[in-house]
Amino acid sequence: MEHLRRSKVADLLQSKERGSEVLVKGWVRTKRGNKNVNFIALNDGSVIHHIQVVAEVAKFDEELLKKITTGSAIAVEGTLVESMGQGQNVEIQARKIELFGTADPETYPLQKKGHTLEFLREIAHLRPRTNTFGAVLRIRHAMAFAIHKYFNDHGFFYIHSPIVTGSDAEGAGAMFRVTTLDPLHPPLTPEGKVNYTEDFFGKETSLTVSGQLEAELAALSLSLVYTFGPTFRAENSNTPRHLAEFWMIEPEMAFYDIHDNMDLAEDFLKSLMQYALDHCMDDLEFLNKMYDNELIDRLQQVIGSKFERLTYTEAIEILKASGQSWEFPVDWGSDLQAEHERYLVEKHFHCPVILTNYPRDIKAFYMKQNDDNKTVRGMDVLFPRIGEIIGGSQREEDYDSLLRRIREMNIPEKDVWWYLDTRRFGTAPHSGFGLGFERLILFVTGMSNIRDVIPFPRTPKNAEF
Ligand code: 4AD
Ligand code: MG
Repeated sequence: MEHLRRSKVADLLQSKERGSEVLVKGWVRTKRGNKNVNFIALNDGSVIHHIQVVAEVAKFDEELLKKITTGSAIAVEGTLVESMGQGQNVEIQARKIELFGTADPETYPLQKKGHTLEFLREIAHLRPRTNTFGAVLRIRHAMAFAIHKYFNDHGFFYIHSPIVTGSDAEGAGAMFRVTTLDPLHPPLTPEGKVNYTEDFFGKETSLTVSGQLEAELAALSLSLVYTFGPTFRAENSNTPRHLAEFWMIEPEMAFYDIHDNMDLAEDFLKSLMQYALDHCMDDLEFLNKMYDNELIDRLQQVIGSKFERLTYTEAIEILKASGQSWEFPVDWGSDLQAEHERYLVEKHFHCPVILTNYPRDIKAFYMKQNDDNKTVRGMDVLFPRIGEIIGGSQREEDYDSLLRRIREMNIPEKDVWWYLDTRRFGTAPHSGFGLGFERLILFVTGMSNIRDVIPFPRTPKNAEF
């Protein structure tokens, strides 16, 4: 079989050629037929659709055909012909079949169709073999590519912020410690505390919760930058929207105020939805049919809508006047919960919403303070079904105000002296935001649980695969 080059199923299904010799390799999704002929649906992951392989039983070793079952990996050489069957244009009349790996029908967990998503989470190592995860993973790839393309097209530079860090960017929630000290016998200080000066980095370090602080340093030189990397939060939140390890996209722009920041966030999100519609339609149609029949409409609606912009204070008034009963009370000064965010988006405005000017006590130290001494120039973008998809702000660029806030919030100055330095030397107004990649993928795929849009979810008590 070596003389033929392997074709991808995606290309063959589009091909106008007939009668040509082709070679495909992939995994068997189903095999059916009778004593004369076998029909094998073969998928190689390049596209959601399978190609039909027709094998005349008389032409093949009977034992070989018997061993080919759902899940086995094979190579097929044959002729590409017009298909008489329904649902496909072309099929392959097989001449040679090579079997790479069998999948015992007695034990192969995906022998039958129609497993629940919960069950598939328990076999995360095999679930990419399903139509659903093939679709999700292809869309995830397309969105990652579209993000890099968007920023590249708009003159942004990709900055690789560190994963191991000595600072706590958000100051909310716990961080995962990174250490090589012996957990049973750590070196101690005379006061009996763990002596981190003897640790690998000579100080206490953790996995980062955000690449923002480093992105700010770069923006104050390169003007337009973004990070796109894994971030880690050791919060014990077992919800369909939280992961302990998730990917975040964080653009940071010098000379942008909060309004420029909102404009960018809105244009960025719409362009990603458009990219999905332009490049992922096969997968979107599958997900639309199987999981969420409003998915494609919703993507189009977001592109066509103007995001509603209002202040946190205005949002609180709307929520209070709504007459709804809430699980979490609505009070000026407390953080909005997903139920409040979704009410504003889904019931009140019927479009994405951007809230600004949050109470400073519920937001991070770096947000620009407003003159009212109560609020900061933060912004959250709220989406249907998701709630918060983006969190961002204009940054406090004034050295004295920033230092005051750092002290008020008891942030150790020794951890952020380098950050403060940027406000001492050539400080400038700047803004940025963070898009949760998996929340974006949730929205674009119509899936309902964040565990189903990342290959190997990390959640409390779960890091098996
Ligand atoms: O609102 P967050 O915490 O903002 C920041 O980290 C800022 N440093 C961003 C910035 O201004 N550069 O997180 C940003 C986004 C959220 O809006 C949400 O989409 C996502 O990250 N996110 C999570 N996604 C999955 N699991 C979690 N535990 C998440 N926490 C935040
Ligand atoms: Mg947030």
